[in-house]
Amino acid sequence: MKTPNLSRRSFLEAGSATAASLAMAQGASAATEPRVSVPRAIGQPMRSNVQLPTTPPLPRRADSVGFAIIGLGGYALNQMMPRFALAQRSHIAAIVSGNPEKLKQVGDAYGVPPDARYTYDSFDAIADDKRVEAVYIVLPSGLHAAWTEKAFAAGKHVLCEKPMALSSEECARMIAAAERAKRKLMIAYRSYFEPHNRLAMALMAQKALGPLRLLRADHSYRMGPVTPAQNWRLDRALAGGGPLEDLGIYGLQAALYLTQEVPELITASTYQPEGDARFTQIFAHVGAQLRFPSGAVAQLSTSYDAAGANTVSARGATGVLTMDPATSYSGQKMRLEQAGQAGRDLTPGDPDVQFAGQLDHFADAIRDGGQIKTPGQMGLRDVRLMEAIYASARTGRYVRLNPDGTMLD
Ligand SMILES: NC(=O)c1ccc[n+]([C@@H]2O[C@H](COP(=O)([O-])OP(=O)(O)OC[C@H]3O[C@@H](n4cnc5c(N)ncnc54)[C@H](OP(=O)(O)O)[C@@H]3O)[C@@H](O)[C@H]2O)c1
Repeated sequence: MKTPNLSRRSFLEAGSATAASLAMAQGASAATEPRVSVPRAIGQPMRSNVQLPTTPPLPRRADSVGFAIIGLGGYALNQMMPRFALAQRSHIAAIVSGNPEKLKQVGDAYGVPPDARYTYDSFDAIADDKRVEAVYIVLPSGLHAAWTEKAFAAGKHVLCEKPMALSSEECARMIAAAERAKRKLMIAYRSYFEPHNRLAMALMAQKALGPLRLLRADHSYRMGPVTPAQNWRLDRALAGGGPLEDLGIYGLQAALYLTQEVPELITASTYQPEGDARFTQIFAHVGAQLRFPSGAVAQLSTSYDAAGANTVSARGATGVLTMDPATSYSGQKMRLEQAGQAGRDLTPGDPDVQFAGQLDHFADAIRDGGQIKTPGQMGLRDVRLMEAIYASARTGRYVRLNPDGTMLD
């Protein structure tokens, strides 16, 4: 096994350093180190599996909030943009892309007027576009911070995809930018709007399992034979450490929303195999153990090189709740076993509502001033915890935490 020579700090520095200075910071020559890109918004080809609508969806309500979608990739085009048709108070008002053909094709399909189709270079003009009140950032994770700051500078509200950013410094900048602009910031943690996960939170609050003792969350899939140059998810500057920021974050989130606690202690390890072109810049797997103030212990595992898993289980003193799949786009399954009772499969509702649910929650907060369930502070907390996981893995020691997720030592 190769010990990763890249500290979490160098992952973080990747967000702002040039490739040359980064290589120097790592004490390596640029010639011998793998290429580390500078995070920059660059248009990509249209994905082959995209289905565009045949009729443009219309806003449902007169007070619907107009969103600009930044980054027309797989998740925006296949999941989120079609779900605007199900939203009550949110509609697509503009699109932003680095690929002019995509701008035309997607703009025509969604009924976005030509003067509401922006490129990364013309984005700043969106400040004067009154049709756009909020910006939804669906770019690679290493671009979230810079584009959130640009959107706030343009006076828009921001819904930002997970992970919020690749470092707590970036998250803090995003929160400060929201405060300066007096605009709202929400992290698109869709499980907060998904019926199975919402029921799981309610069951834990009711102590349906007795006091919570053990949690387990596994999130993985097997990445195809690609390189960082072919897929940003393998590129440290755009993806951080890799599977933890992309997939493991769902398990981390679940551990926190099921316990309703922040861990006080973390131990973790990472694995970066040698000779695998996929893992020259990121980790293949990350495992972490979190101990909460109540004494509950969570095991998290995540991988880009293991057969697909998407499971969360919670074990209390008197019962067990299992979700498999737990945090997927669809098909959630959930089973509750309580002492003295037959196990029950629970079907609290259609997971599909999670997508439009988060859009309308943000629109409600913008219009009515309500509290956001998944605010920037939550994204910051989670990024701090991921930093603690990497710190533990790097040092081989456990990391003690403050209640806000910052490291004690
Ligand atoms: N909440 C969820 O369930 C969920 C699921 C999947 C992804 N996500 C998040 O959504 C974000 C995007 O993920 P995705 O799966 O949609 O990625 P993707 O399919 O690779 O699309 C990313 C898009 O970002 C734009 N982009 C700008 N600069 C880029 C660069 N340097 N390299 C690559 N793309 C660049 C491109 O859009 P243009 O060609 O239009 O410029 C590209 O198509 C990530 O933050 C991810 O974590 C969330």
